[in-house]
Amino acid sequence: NAVGIDDIAIYSPGHYYDLADLAAAHGIDPAKYTKGIGQERMAVPSPDEDIVTMAANAVAPLLSDGVRDAVSTVIFATESGIDQSKSAGLFVHGVLGLRPNCRVVEFKQACYGATAGIQFACDLVRQRPAEKVLIIASDIARYERGSEGECTQGAGAVAMVVSANPRLIEIHPQSGLFSLDVMDFWRPNHRSAALVDGKLSIDVYLRSLTEAWADFRRKGGLPLDAVDKLCFHQPFTKMAKKAFGALAEAAGPEAAHLGEASYADSQVYGRLIGNTYSASLYIGLCSLLDNCAENLGGRTIGLFSYGSGSVGEFFTATVRPSYRRYLRADAHRTMLDARQRLDDATYAAWFYEVPKQVEDRALPQEAAGRFRLAAVEEQRRVYEEAIPE
Ligand code: CAA
Repeated sequence: NAVGIDDIAIYSPGHYYDLADLAAAHGIDPAKYTKGIGQERMAVPSPDEDIVTMAANAVAPLLSDGVRDAVSTVIFATESGIDQSKSAGLFVHGVLGLRPNCRVVEFKQACYGATAGIQFACDLVRQRPAEKVLIIASDIARYERGSEGECTQGAGAVAMVVSANPRLIEIHPQSGLFSLDVMDFWRPNHRSAALVDGKLSIDVYLRSLTEAWADFRRKGGLPLDAVDKLCFHQPFTKMAKKAFGALAEAAGPEAAHLGEASYADSQVYGRLIGNTYSASLYIGLCSLLDNCAENLGGRTIGLFSYGSGSVGEFFTATVRPSYRRYLRADAHRTMLDARQRLDDATYAAWFYEVPKQVEDRALPQEAAGRFRLAAVEEQRRVYEEAIPE
């Protein structure tokens, strides 16, 4: 019986910083960002947004009565957690009034966490087909101000329902894996910005891709000539191009039919949002489904997930025949089109000063989404539904 993704929605903040402004601020040719890195804008959370509010805004549209009643497990993947102990998923559980009879847990392995979630969810549902699993990935990608990583920053969340007989994509059981203990990107507990060895991270990403794909083939996974589209973890869209080049070279004639068109539609949202770490691959998948002009029903997608540190996984999925009926493409486009551009000072204050605030505070309304962080009271985060449905 088919198991896979039954529903998907994304959320990204209502404000962005234009990379042309970042280039001007740093005296850099803007083409380095738009062409060399392949990014146009970075989504910037307002002070009253965090990984929980982005997650709640992504999950809310998925909560039909049928989903509420059947969710047995909530998996929240993030590498920008707000608490060392409590799962961010429990805040979402509370804000959205999910049923008490379910388990809620947070997964962390850099940008890879949501893929672990998807695989565990598929196996849970294969065991107990009546249950549904809610996977949430939500992250704020932050580097040092003025560092080379700054242009790849972003923020966003994706929410997915994994079920039997999924309406969107069936995930195949085979997957190829590659793990390596390496310091290419990391964030010690006392830091809000990641540390990164950029060139090393690209090398390890590409090695993980070819090694995970080789493992996938050894285990009987589909050859690339049976794959129609590709979707790569996308810290910046140029990385997908590098990934495609490495995979095509490793696969040789199997990949001869695949070109830039096989992954271009997966880049549309990422180019406007920036890196979203654990959410990035699945925002890419949503971008592919939402933006591909041809009907993908019955087509096969190859997906590569990478989390620095590092874990890589290659797997495949088949798009279900009627998937188009269940997409939220219009809502996603409307959300991205409605965003407001930030000036340099507001971007710098929101992105770099807000994470330093640890004291109790009330937060004025800035967020564009339905759910927001209203205050921190006695070190407790207080969320509210600011814009009723
Ligand atoms: N016009 C057009 N292109 C230009 C240009 C110009 N004026 N100036 C430079 N470029 C091109 C360069 O030729 C280069 O292209 P190629 O990569 O195709 O060679 C590209 O722009 C980038 O230039 P640099 O290599 O000089 O870039 P950089 O040293 O400033 O840093 C980076 C790039 C390492 C990716 C940096 O942004 C970074 O550290 N990013 C964060 C880490 C990251 O995202 N790593 C990816 C793999 S790890 C991962 O995937 C996990 C994760 O999410 C973090």
